[in-house]
Amino acid sequence: MSQDDAKRRAAEAALTHVHEGDVLGVGTGSTVNIFIDLLASRGPGIRAAVSSSEASTERLRSHRIAVTDLNEAGGLDCYIDGADEADPHLRLIKGGGGALTREKIVAEASRRFVCIVDESKCVRVLGAFPLPVEVIPMARSMVARKLVALGGRPVLREGVTTDNGNVILDVTGIDLTDPVAMERTLNQIPGIVTVGLFARRAADVLLVGSASGVDIRRPGDH
Ligand code: 5RP
Repeated sequence: MSQDDAKRRAAEAALTHVHEGDVLGVGTGSTVNIFIDLLASRGPGIRAAVSSSEASTERLRSHRIAVTDLNEAGGLDCYIDGADEADPHLRLIKGGGGALTREKIVAEASRRFVCIVDESKCVRVLGAFPLPVEVIPMARSMVARKLVALGGRPVLREGVTTDNGNVILDVTGIDLTDPVAMERTLNQIPGIVTVGLFARRAADVLLVGSASGVDIRRPGDH
């Protein structure tokens, strides 16, 4: 089975977490794109979506799914999004698609966060995937030096400006054995807008697609 087929299985399983009339948070990426297409073709009729990126907004609108502003929507029933890595506690690395800031906001606004991945994204300890960090452009070098002092190797994501007008540093080598603590530490560095660690607010449900089906994981399962 291809990775895309496994993503499709996870995306299909996410439809059962969506209910008629929901105001739904919708993330970004190839797995979410499959989910959006499925939602449009055979999902329940949602009231509206709050999107985490311009790309997802465009895709939702192309299917005539209403997209609303988070300030108008208030609290969201559920958030569906992918991830670059997930650990057994459902803590995540996200931001491979560069949408981490809006993703974190939408996750925080949602009662439930359902994360959809193929099995290649599941790891024991986060950190093989470079950690995306969104940074205000004027702080880029200063933040990079702080990341080096913490043991990281930051690399500027060339040619990328986020939907918020910022740059992204992809960081390898940083110790993520305690992701909640590292998220807190990095959040305190001026100039960092968002760290792509979703540890304090982890997923509530992880749907893992693979050749054998869909594994449903919750934080207490490990
Ligand atoms: C975007 C993200 C995505 O959820 C993550 O990169 C996974 O993407 P894909 O579903 O394409 O594998 O965090 O910022």
